[in-house]
Amino acid sequence: MGEVIAVTSGKDGVGKTVIASNLGVVLAQRKHSVVLMDLNVGSRNLDISLGLENRVVYDLVDVVTGVCRIKQAMIRDRRFRDLYLISAPQSRNKAPITEEQLVALCQELKKIFDFIIIDAPAGAGSALKQAVSPADSVVVVTVPEYSAIRDTESINALLEGVGITRRSVVINKIMPELHQTGLVPGPEEIAEILRTPVSGLIPYDQNIHISTNVGIPIATAQESYIAKNLRGIGERIISKIDDLAPDANVQY
Ligand SMILES: Nc1ncnc2c1ncn2[C@@H]1O[C@H](COP(=O)(O)OP(=O)(O)OP(=O)(O)O)[C@@H](O)[C@H]1O
Ligand SMILES: [Mg+2]
Repeated sequence: MGEVIAVTSGKDGVGKTVIASNLGVVLAQRKHSVVLMDLNVGSRNLDISLGLENRVVYDLVDVVTGVCRIKQAMIRDRRFRDLYLISAPQSRNKAPITEEQLVALCQELKKIFDFIIIDAPAGAGSALKQAVSPADSVVVVTVPEYSAIRDTESINALLEGVGITRRSVVINKIMPELHQTGLVPGPEEIAEILRTPVSGLIPYDQNIHISTNVGIPIATAQESYIAKNLRGIGERIISKIDDLAPDANVQY
């Protein structure tokens, strides 16, 4: 049976899609079968990050409403043996998906894939509650800003409330020089505030920004330090997160 991992955040634009797409790539590189599922109804962008935007015909809502079969909505990323995308609808006018439909769909996908990675919406609202309903574990992405950290605390509280104990934090867009000035919170301080295992530290790097715009996930540059870092993050996320100490000394 496969495992469902949801990637979320308190704030928009902190890097959920970058982390979800690259997690999919590093797991596919390790010969796992993976489906990436975008749950950002009306604001999907996993398809763009993967360079698959021209191949989306059917979406998640088409699957759960019976307009198409699951396989028709699964777009294979031909760069990998076993990496697929299921898009969210770009229009908000389609019928809303229910929690029961999402859980049932993930049960089906778990029979086919080793990992189902959900690119979930941001913010501690009902959309997130629904998006994490099938999740076995959750990755919460944050950035080194006190406002983002506070929003991450709200997400942690929501996840705790719905009984998701397997969760970790990825701190993205770190600027090491700025961190050294002591004027912005550093990874140790963030880990201490959040008291959640840290599965990854990712620096701000313009190559990541470029990769999302050209539709080539940065982890495909296998020899780069970022790809190496992402492989380590992938390993920590799929290992038993409970084993990570909250102040895990992750490298980047
Ligand atoms: N470590 C990084 N270094 C440089 N740019 C980054 C980094 N991580 C993400 N970005 C850029 O930040 C922007 C937001 O990233 P992304 O789309 O992954 O965030 P998101 O949390 O999914 O956003 P949304 O809430 O809109 O879905 C993108 O332009 C992306 O290229
Ligand atoms: Mg996104």
